[in-house]
Amino acid sequence: MTLRKTILSGMRPTGKLHLGNYVGALENWVALQQDYNNYHLIADYHVLTTDLDTSHITQDTVDMVIDWLAAGIDPLKSPMFRQSQVKQHTELHLIFSMLITTARLERNPAVKDQVRDLHIENMSYGHLGYPVLQAADILLYKGELVPVGEDQVPHVEISREIARHFNNQFGPVFPEPEPKLTPFARLPGLDGIDRKMSKSGGNTIFLSDSPEDIQKKLRTAVTDPQKVRKNDPGRPEICLVHTYHQKFNAPEAEDIETGCRSGALGCVECKKRIAERISACLTPFREKRAYFDAHPQEVFDILTDGEQRARSRAEHTMADVHAAMHLG
Ligand code: TRP
Repeated sequence: MTLRKTILSGMRPTGKLHLGNYVGALENWVALQQDYNNYHLIADYHVLTTDLDTSHITQDTVDMVIDWLAAGIDPLKSPMFRQSQVKQHTELHLIFSMLITTARLERNPAVKDQVRDLHIENMSYGHLGYPVLQAADILLYKGELVPVGEDQVPHVEISREIARHFNNQFGPVFPEPEPKLTPFARLPGLDGIDRKMSKSGGNTIFLSDSPEDIQKKLRTAVTDPQKVRKNDPGRPEICLVHTYHQKFNAPEAEDIETGCRSGALGCVECKKRIAERISACLTPFREKRAYFDAHPQEVFDILTDGEQRARSRAEHTMADVHAAMHLG
């Protein structure tokens, strides 16, 4: 009997992960493995909300899972599985879709942001309902905590409402999951402090980048436009490179800040130092990635095993659901 709480964390299979994904999610997942029961979901059905071209989904899944493994997610502790391979997700999604109104889904600020950012004119039925699928993802494992960034909090709220509605209507089956906010959720991209690092933004450092790539990318990073010459005083508070120092080079960040402000430290040197630190942070990942790159079958074996374990938990939950609802 374990008293550990259950965490359900999920990510769309977007291919190779970047530092923003690491800082905003993965690093936290690795830390949480010690104290919780973790389920790591690959949200392959969620991809369909914005992209019906699935030709690259298998490769994207493998690339992402290799990054998970390289970063230290332990598949023996925590199952990793694809949503599409555990059919109970779709079953619970259908039941949940009756427990929420379309008006409630249309009010969801996260969906509104997506409509704006992706210029979506006509939303599919499934896209509007994707927070309902997410609620099924979480509650199928009776997830109590969901590690997310701020932007996903409205989705977790919808999961809570659905859990509450189900429990009131049919009897207590589900916990009300809570968001577990990631401490350092937002990392700026290489093109400016105000832009989030994102694959579509083309402003990323990938976890799989070589030390040379990292040096090269940082050389082009945008810094304080007023610091033109090496000894001009700079403003670290508006410099994304300084954010990276705070995150990846905390012990030296203060000295670097002082050097930048006084003009003693130039951008070239500052960037070189952070490139070295980031490369060093990623060194332990490199070895593990090389192993899995050479043994892709093991990645599929890990998924197959994770999917079996996820399925067995999902079957239990669905038995509770069917019993509560007098189905079957
Ligand atoms: N909605 C998340 C995203 O778009 C992915 C996701 C799907 C998820 N199911 C989840 C996240 C369950 C946390 C829990 O990135």
